[in-house]
Amino acid sequence: MAGLPRASPLLYVGIGVLIGLSISLLSAPSRYNSFDGHISGIRPNRRHLDDLAEHHGDHHDAHNDEDVDDSHAPMRALAFHGNGSGHDHEGENIVADVVSERVRVFCWILTGKQNHDKRAKHVKATWARRCNKYVFMSSEDDAELPAVNLNISEGRDYLWGKTKSAFKYAHDNYVNDYDWFIKADDDTYVVVENLRFMLLAHSPDEPIYFGCKFKPFAKQGYMSGGAGYVLSRSALKKFVTEALPNKDKCKEDHTGAEDAEIGKCLENVGVKAGDSRDNGGHHRFMPFVPEHHLSPGHVDPGFWFWQYTYYPMDQGPTCCSDYAISFHYVNANLMYVLEYLIYHLKPFGVDRALRIKEDESILHAAYRIARETRGSDDAFRDQEVKL
Ligand SMILES: *[C@@H]1O[C@H](CO)[C@@H](O)[C@H](O)[C@H]1NC(C)=O
Ligand SMILES: *[C@@H]1O[C@H](CO)[C@@H](O)[C@H](O)[C@H]1NC(C)=O
Repeated sequence: MAGLPRASPLLYVGIGVLIGLSISLLSAPSRYNSFDGHISGIRPNRRHLDDLAEHHGDHHDAHNDEDVDDSHAPMRALAFHGNGSGHDHEGENIVADVVSERVRVFCWILTGKQNHDKRAKHVKATWARRCNKYVFMSSEDDAELPAVNLNISEGRDYLWGKTKSAFKYAHDNYVNDYDWFIKADDDTYVVVENLRFMLLAHSPDEPIYFGCKFKPFAKQGYMSGGAGYVLSRSALKKFVTEALPNKDKCKEDHTGAEDAEIGKCLENVGVKAGDSRDNGGHHRFMPFVPEHHLSPGHVDPGFWFWQYTYYPMDQGPTCCSDYAISFHYVNANLMYVLEYLIYHLKPFGVDRALRIKEDESILHAAYRIARETRGSDDAFRDQEVKL
């Protein structure tokens, strides 16, 4: 059947990676490397191959952009069973729907015209439709996705230019219509309900942003680009009206590492780098695919990530929060696998309904649990949100 997957998605991820692996194995960082793109553009320094081969798990998942294997992406967007099939999931979203009215999320997804078919339409068919509004920021207009041509040169060298332009577009057109503004890549998978759940503990009037926090380049750290990062409305306003027009606060030309650059700009205008972990210290924004984080010994202690991560992160099942928000380097096939595992597969008889106290509204219960679940280092922790 033309266009349908022919083998296990994990296998595809593996194939391209085996090629990319030999390249990436040749390198590891000294301390912090400067970037020539966002995190996926990291070029760690050379390191002797034998050195790595001794400790290094033989991983098969993507650790940079080139590793992501799009070659077996389905030709068209796939649909899950629906309506009247006994698999319609009716009535399962009551709490999520209440939270969705309160925490309105605008999603913009960074893509390029060459990726509309291989990636963007599968993002649209899976997680993007759960955003209150989404737009693909691209190098070509496409009313159907929808995608906006930002008129910025194509290529990784211009990611910073695209990012500035995309946030400006979101600001100029939507700043008053939504509360939070997330940037994701076209190979990021986002669990939008869990994003709203984390954000529910905060007000969009707080100058704050969240993501997978890395140590270098800004005093308070910055958020890795690939796992996605989310700005409050206040942070978006400060970025566009205070930081962007001032070349002392924000890099003016279009080149540079998008994620490190925006991290510096936001710090310069007083936007706090939030703690996106849960109350158990488990991470919610993941810069790699699930297998990478969940397998103990997957990468060796010399892997650059261990020096970059702002908060410690376990390698193994304790890495990740039950309320995980994102994974990166997810190709189209893995998107559908995640979609199936997260939104369709049900362990029969296991009840995950929210426990709501008798005198509590759904929104108050959700808010109470969101506050209990906050990371211990979170900015504005003591600030109550008026519901
Ligand atoms: C289910 O029904 C809705 C509304 O009639 C329709 O838009 C949607 O495409 C249907 N989904 C499937 C999978 O059949
Ligand atoms: C890109 O350029 C076209 C043609 O000049 C213009 O119509 C469009 O508004 C521009 N897009 C953005 C996002 O500025």
